This record gives sequence, C-alpha cells and structure tokens, in this order.
Amino acid sequence: MSNPIIEPSGGGVGAFVRELNLNDSMTDDTIAVLRKGLGEYGVLFFRDQDITPETHAAFASRFSNININRFFTPVLDYPMIAEVRKEPEQKTNIGGGWHTDHSYDKEPAMGSMLLARETPPSGGDTIFASMYSAYDTLSDGLKETLGGLRGVHSSRHVFGENAARFKDKDNDAGDRLRNAQEATQDAVHPLIISHPISGRKALYVNPGFTIGIEGWVEKESKALLEMLYEHARQPEHAYRFQWRTGSIAFWDNRATWHYAVNDYHGARRLMHRITLEGDALAA
Ligand code: OGA
Ligand code: MN
Repeated sequence: MSNPIIEPSGGGVGAFVRELNLNDSMTDDTIAVLRKGLGEYGVLFFRDQDITPETHAAFASRFSNININRFFTPVLDYPMIAEVRKEPEQKTNIGGGWHTDHSYDKEPAMGSMLLARETPPSGGDTIFASMYSAYDTLSDGLKETLGGLRGVHSSRHVFGENAARFKDKDNDAGDRLRNAQEATQDAVHPLIISHPISGRKALYVNPGFTIGIEGWVEKESKALLEMLYEHARQPEHAYRFQWRTGSIAFWDNRATWHYAVNDYHGARRLMHRITLEGDALAA
C-alpha cells in the first residue's frame, strides 16, 4: 500500500489525511508518516472512516499506549474509549472552552483521537489552534523571557470536588464525568516546550488547566496568562473542523489547543475519544 497523502488544511493548523482506509492493514512506515504529520501539523483529520471500536483502539495503539481518562465515563463494554456525549436535553458540552487535554498530568497525554459517531444536523464543530504558531509570532524578547518560566497546571477546578461546575446550577455535565475525588494532582511544565516529535518550540499554557506561573503571585500570573491567551486565541492560529459521522480528529496536545463549539442545543452529538500516553515535557 502506498503512503497516505497529507494535505494542509489551509488554516492555521491541521492537515487532512487522504487515501487511507483505517480498515486496511498499515505498515510501520505508514504510521511513521502519520506520526511525523501529527508533529508537523498538530492535528490530522480523517473522513468517512467506518470502523468498529476495536479498529479505533487498534489504530490508536500504533502510536502509544492508551490512557484511560479517569474523569470521563467510558463507552459501555469499551473501557479504553471515553464517551464525549451531549443529549438533546443537555446544555453543557464537554470541552466547551479553549484547552489542551491532560496538561494537569506530570506526563501529559500526547494526543487524543476523537471519532464522530453521531453528529447534530448542524453545528458542533471543533476549533483547533496551533501553539507553534502562537509561539512563533511572539517577539524575540518575550520568547526569551518565557523560556525561563514554568506553568502550574491543575485538574481540581475542572474535575475536582470543588469544581466550578458544582456551583453553577446551569451546568449539567455531571452524568458524564466521574471520580472527582481523584482530581488532586497538579503538574508543573515549562511555558515553552520543545515538541517531542518535531523539535519545534510551542507555547504550553492553556485557559482550561493552567492556574499560574511557578513562583509568581496570582495577580502577576493572571496578567501574563491573559495576555498569552489573547495572543493564542487569534483566528490566524486556528482552523475550524466540521464533523461528519465517521470523521476523526487526531490531535497532538503538546502543539495545539481545541474548543468544542456548543451551538447545537436540542440535538445529540456522540463522539468516541481515545487518549494516548505521552512523556514528561522539556524546555
Ligand atoms: C475532548 C474534547 C472536543 C469535541 O474530547 O477532549 O475537548 O469537539 N472534545 O468534542
Ligand atoms: Mn479536550
């Protein structure tokens, strides 16, 4: 089998993988091409993949070990697949704010492979943003300053027993999340990381899980982080992906952010997510 074609999305991040049917057997060479593409573009998009949960898991496992997310409810009979679901009567979606997955872990997940099982008639897109591009477009002076800093990341305020959602009566994410008592771990990572696949530098802070700068007081941290977030949120770094049933987005958590757009109230959206183990991050 010849290698797949990787075609840039035309936006600020991501590429489409053409000429690849995930039901076919794949050589290690094909996997290496995809891994390199992931490191280069940050997200790989696949269309029209009619695959079973077993095939999804087998494909994901070619890249790394599967990480079972402790906070997401799994798909029935498939503990390695997390369910990312919103029912017609539910208001809150999962991932509805800029974030990168698992930055609260000491060895953050390298990526997630999200497969659309059921899409709403319209809406429910996911926006991705390149943290390579966010880094590259900072001034040399700020790059140098940020190079010496480390960010503190946490899951407590999102998944923990005192998470903001418990105080928000309009938040109905409850039935889809679990194990709040396990949200106790914080992690510290360099603010600027060298990407494990591409070697390129990327900005590694995110509005979802970064709670401060190591050694800085809250007011200082907040000011710097807000400035970086505003910079990183610029549409120039982003690409908006429209899902169809059978679409897959395979993103690299170290090189990107993502945002699940919550604009399809009254319709159902069901996704299967497999998360892949990563390594500790270095400057
Ligand atoms: C996730 C997530 C985005 C989406 O699964 O980590 O943020 O569009 N999902 O469902
Ligand atoms: Mn996410």
